Amino acid sequence: MTEIVNLPIEHWDQACSLQQQDAALQALEGGDVVLLPHLAFTLHEAERRFLDPSLADAGKNISLNPANGALQGSRDSLEPLRGMVERYAQNSAALLRSLLPSYLPAIQTGRTSFRPVEVEGRTTSWRKDDTRLHVDSFPSSPTQGKRILRLFTNVHPEGRPRTWRLGESFEGVAQHFLPSLHRPVWGSSPMMHWLGITKSRRSAYDHFMLQLHDRMKADAAYQAKAPQHTQQFAPGSSWLVYTDQVSHAAMAGQHLFEQTFYLPINGMRDASKSPLRVLERLLRRELV
Ligand SMILES: [Fe+2]
Repeated sequence: MTEIVNLPIEHWDQACSLQQQDAALQALEGGDVVLLPHLAFTLHEAERRFLDPSLADAGKNISLNPANGALQGSRDSLEPLRGMVERYAQNSAALLRSLLPSYLPAIQTGRTSFRPVEVEGRTTSWRKDDTRLHVDSFPSSPTQGKRILRLFTNVHPEGRPRTWRLGESFEGVAQHFLPSLHRPVWGSSPMMHWLGITKSRRSAYDHFMLQLHDRMKADAAYQAKAPQHTQQFAPGSSWLVYTDQVSHAAMAGQHLFEQTFYLPINGMRDASKSPLRVLERLLRRELV
């Protein structure tokens, strides 16, 4: 079962001890959540007006593209809104430098998102329904085995927690679903890339991860009966988690920042714990 490991870090650029760095690595790579209960992201007075769900197009995320610094997903193209999200990205990078310095040579920065919309009661298709337990895998963005490390910060101004369910270990999920998964169809991966369905080649690993994501969400009995517990993340706290490994569901909450990082598995301290290596071991084949 996923554990919560608390670290008393209060500032984004705070020097972390070797002990704290070691505890963070051990917890993250082992499939636990690192909770930083006192690490808040403070909005400037003038930014409080951005705590408004109507700012987000399509009702979900406003995100900053790290490739060009452009803000996407908002009806409001105000520079101050972009500046707020950018500041969260900079704070996230500072935390990474002090808490997870061994990742720096290999880690890649992904999108930064601001989510002012309430999660509870949002209507969507079952595949996009993040209130169902799942591991992250995205149809159009194959990772080819790279890890998805995410930092979250709850900035709700009136004390509303972010409520998650956390499920069983990645190995438990894989053992439950692997016997029923299909093998990739030969030739489909280059074809999907060529047609623009995927942004890069969908490897055998991505194929199995997408199926895991979908099978978990589609299985109502699994959602109800899988080992799980509820975790509340209070406003003013941040948490780090490998969302490709940790079975999670976002049940309720509003006003969240999130930063995604991608880490090739050779940048991990122990790559044998990666979903890629776990799946390869269970399937007894390479998934490149
Ligand atoms: Fe997710």
